[in-house]
Amino acid sequence: MTDVTPAGIPSLTRSVDDLSLLERVNPVFNTAKMTLYQLASSGDENALALSNMYGLTAEETEATSEADEQIINHIILETRYRTMGVLAERSGCPTAVDLPCGYNPRGIEFAAKGHAYVGIDLPAVILEAEPAVTSMLPESQHHLVRYFGADATNYASLEAAFDHIEGEVCITTEGLLMYFTDSETAEFCDNIRRVLSAHGGCWLLADAEVVMQYILTARAFYGDRFMEVMRRRKAHADKQSDVDVKARTLVIDPTADPAQAMRKAMAFLAAHGLKAERIIVADHVPELNNLAKLPADKVVQIRESMKSYAYWKITPIAAVPLDVHEAQGSGMELAASLDDDTLSLEIAGRLDTLTAPNLLKFYEQTVEKHSVEEVRVDCTKLAYVSSAGLRVIVIMLKGCTRGVTLVAPNDTVREILHQTGMVDMVNVE
Ligand SMILES: C[S@@+](CC[C@H](N)C(=O)[O-])C[C@H]1O[C@@H](n2cnc3c(N)ncnc32)[C@H](O)[C@@H]1O
Repeated sequence: MTDVTPAGIPSLTRSVDDLSLLERVNPVFNTAKMTLYQLASSGDENALALSNMYGLTAEETEATSEADEQIINHIILETRYRTMGVLAERSGCPTAVDLPCGYNPRGIEFAAKGHAYVGIDLPAVILEAEPAVTSMLPESQHHLVRYFGADATNYASLEAAFDHIEGEVCITTEGLLMYFTDSETAEFCDNIRRVLSAHGGCWLLADAEVVMQYILTARAFYGDRFMEVMRRRKAHADKQSDVDVKARTLVIDPTADPAQAMRKAMAFLAAHGLKAERIIVADHVPELNNLAKLPADKVVQIRESMKSYAYWKITPIAAVPLDVHEAQGSGMELAASLDDDTLSLEIAGRLDTLTAPNLLKFYEQTVEKHSVEEVRVDCTKLAYVSSAGLRVIVIMLKGCTRGVTLVAPNDTVREILHQTGMVDMVNVE
């Protein structure tokens, strides 16, 4: 069943005529047909049939006119699309949800294997994508493929779509986060966590290491000419788009300090109740049409490069509550939970000379039993912190490689953090 405009949600666009308006305000929108064209050029028969249906041409849809750059783009795209498909199938979830689906033909492939598929994208895209894909499905497979129009940053519209799905979902996201600002990504992450908490399943993200994938593939392909080609490519991309990928926390920039960028991205996810596992692409990539066209030495290099970048499997943090009864009292209430090596604390009342020793004792007993690399303190109900309380935070800082984050401190606590210079040592959200 098509539900382009879920009940209660205002229509985002009313007709296909509005596509040109959408194109002008949303830089990511027009890249979806480019993706389809590149997949078609990679020898994917379903993509070719869809691409012909839309009448796509190279002039409109190739990002570059340079033949060797096109090959690189096709290899990257085919690697991403095929490997993500394999991972979604292997996830064990009964429904694969492509968010955003663009115009891709994954519904046709999944239905042919008897697997349920849901495509979600902006309503204007679904208006075009759904009839084209559905027209290629045998009648007996129609029930397996459904489409919904929604905005990934709008929970009500997503919820209306996910309400139609039963059981665990494997959500795949390819080619979106590089176009989102951090605040849009934050909304999207919160929405994904809510959906996964309700349904179970996982979120597979191809975008986090896309720059890494590009650089490693280009280096494997061009060898010594790599830097010169990358410079040309960057100048070309800068002219075409106003998007600055380097400004995206969840899109790792490997040209600066990749380890730090990775920590920042993981902390961003943790702040939204999510955690990620890196899935190395080389371990799952299937046979690729584009590699069959290349000399054997280049294929070896490209396959080798796939060992160094990953797609991310993201799931909600399932925190285990910790026993805090010994630390309570004297004006401080504590709640604590542990997820892997992240300790989350909720401190209510005063963290002062009387109560700080209890918190310190609790912290030291916890790190004796568990590995703790990050502490997050919910300060919503924290009224006051004295220098004794700050000393406990400094002790935590020394023990945690990923630092201490204070979430929502009140004005009094913020002022104390500024006065003491602690504001430069901890993260404040
Ligand atoms: C580069 S395309 C990728 C599409 C698809 N994943 C693929 O690989 O073919 C990006 C897609 O994101 C969609 N999009 C952009 N903003 C969106 C939003 N707020 N909510 C849902 N989809 C969005 C666009 O309409 C477009 O189809």
